Amino acid sequence: MATVSVLIPAAGSGVRLGRGPKAFVRVGDKTLLEWVLAAFAWADEIRVALPPDVAPPKAAANVSFVTGGGERQDSVARLLAGARGEVVLVHDAARPFVVPEVTGRLLETVALSGAAVPVVSVPDTLIEPEDGRYGPALDRSRYALVQTPQAFFREVLAEAHQLARARGHYATDEAQLVKMLGYPVELVPGDRRMFKVTYPEDLALAEALAASWRV
Ligand code: CTP
Ligand code: MG
Repeated sequence: MATVSVLIPAAGSGVRLGRGPKAFVRVGDKTLLEWVLAAFAWADEIRVALPPDVAPPKAAANVSFVTGGGERQDSVARLLAGARGEVVLVHDAARPFVVPEVTGRLLETVALSGAAVPVVSVPDTLIEPEDGRYGPALDRSRYALVQTPQAFFREVLAEAHQLARARGHYATDEAQLVKMLGYPVELVPGDRRMFKVTYPEDLALAEALAASWRV
């Protein structure tokens, strides 16, 4: 199997959650970052981007830390700069529950294609509000919600980041940058339990799931 570097952007300030730097918020018996480190303990290396004013926590020998950048994409660029794996998995520290079957699908698919991301369907009615009122409804079956981890050949992601930097282009995930290269990104089924802890009410869901989750 290819060597795998897991890149964890954890340098955000967690403004929407309102509990300080999100990676250090506790759910169950672990911080969000500790949940993710435990889930990827098998990887050849794990690189974590932290906020500039945060001291790196104690971690296993395969874990290293860098200082993150102003935007998520800047943090990932810094993680990527020192990564050595043939395959990189980019995973938000804000998604504590990593479903092993999804990681398995990603690694299988990336080995064949060089780029793979997990998606889930849109469960609710999807609309475009107009001035705070009900606007046109979109056909939700045509859309998907994109999760992490996202898997790439390291060289493909490096080229995508280089192009984005040259164009001054920012995106909310890696797959958009890889697609901008003209490189096809495969989709694999994700899992709703890999939701991103973003708003205060997400913490209640995370606490409930943590009580029965085995990493
Ligand atoms: N992230 C990062 N560097 C940044 C901004 C975000 O490494 N400059 C990371 C976050 O730590 C998180 C992931 O990117 O693990 C997804 O970002 P998000 O959920 O938006 O987290 P925050 O930026 O911390 O939250 P908010 O936007 O509410 O401030
Ligand atoms: Mg953010």
